Amino acid sequence: MMISRPRRNRYREGIRKLVRENSLTVNDLIAPLFVIEGSNTEIPVASMPGQSRFSIDLLVKEVKELQSLGIPCVSLFPALDDTLKNSMATESYNDDGLFQRAIKEVKNACPDMIIMSDVAMDPYSSDGHDGIVDPKTGEIVNDETLDILAKMSISQAKAGSDIIGPSDMMDGRVGYIRDALDEEGFSKTSIMSYTAKYASAFYGPFRDALDSAPKSGDKLSYQMDFANKREALRETYLDEYEGADILMVKPGLSYLDIISKMRENTMLPIAAYNVSGEYAMVKAAAEKGWIDGEKVMMEMLMSFKRAGSDMILTYFAKEAAKILNH
Ligand code: PBG
Repeated sequence: MMISRPRRNRYREGIRKLVRENSLTVNDLIAPLFVIEGSNTEIPVASMPGQSRFSIDLLVKEVKELQSLGIPCVSLFPALDDTLKNSMATESYNDDGLFQRAIKEVKNACPDMIIMSDVAMDPYSSDGHDGIVDPKTGEIVNDETLDILAKMSISQAKAGSDIIGPSDMMDGRVGYIRDALDEEGFSKTSIMSYTAKYASAFYGPFRDALDSAPKSGDKLSYQMDFANKREALRETYLDEYEGADILMVKPGLSYLDIISKMRENTMLPIAAYNVSGEYAMVKAAAEKGWIDGEKVMMEMLMSFKRAGSDMILTYFAKEAAKILNH
């Protein structure tokens, strides 16, 4: 006699629905989008099939479509012309800059869409680093960078951003940005901190999209060592203490253990960033006919929910929403 037969809970679709432990809905999705200068311009990102850099008018069109699919949030990233980049990333807090205009126009066209905006120096930096590079030592300086991040955050909040997303990994930046926002009257603007952001080769295609790869050196002195797990909890406690509203783990796929660990140690919502390299791997293998891209996508997205994240930043957002809605 066999008392326990786990398969009894698997035989029929109805039973499988009843015992399903996790669910994925469009409410969980955040769509990252790239914006460029110009009009009626869409430049595909070669290493991210299906993803493009949009001029503001086409970006607005894209956001409207995402809204009609029920996606609650977009995360915007600017791809700037090299002539606008310098060592202090001054364009990042130009209130009339490309990024600020993009935020304003998306907000105008889709007031209910939650706009998240990235904060880090790299898209505006001639050095391609997230912080200021000391010209003598080549070191990424922490405290001076905070001031630029705060100016950038205020400029984005003024333009209409709902969620500031510091992705730079400087020490103390969440608290510094929180203070600066509050002082300027933006106490309702949220911060989604890139809490556990690892130094990862999975960001390659994203750096192609923004042409933002470091000109020299690497990001190991500020992004986390992928051998470490406890350190993610240290960052978790700091970001909580400094006033973050949502904590993010990045990349996602190889870091499900980090999501799960953080889930057990914080009451704050957790986001997973299903990054560019993870998207590129699935697309490339699917193109070759080696995997079923759609099925792998849905399985991957559910794994972020199962690990304990509440929301997922993913380039699959539109594709997945279409499947989830039908
Ligand atoms: C920049 C930033 C990066 C990503 C988001 N913000 C790249 C990096 O840190 O070099 C990566 C996103 C992705 O790969 O999809 N601060």
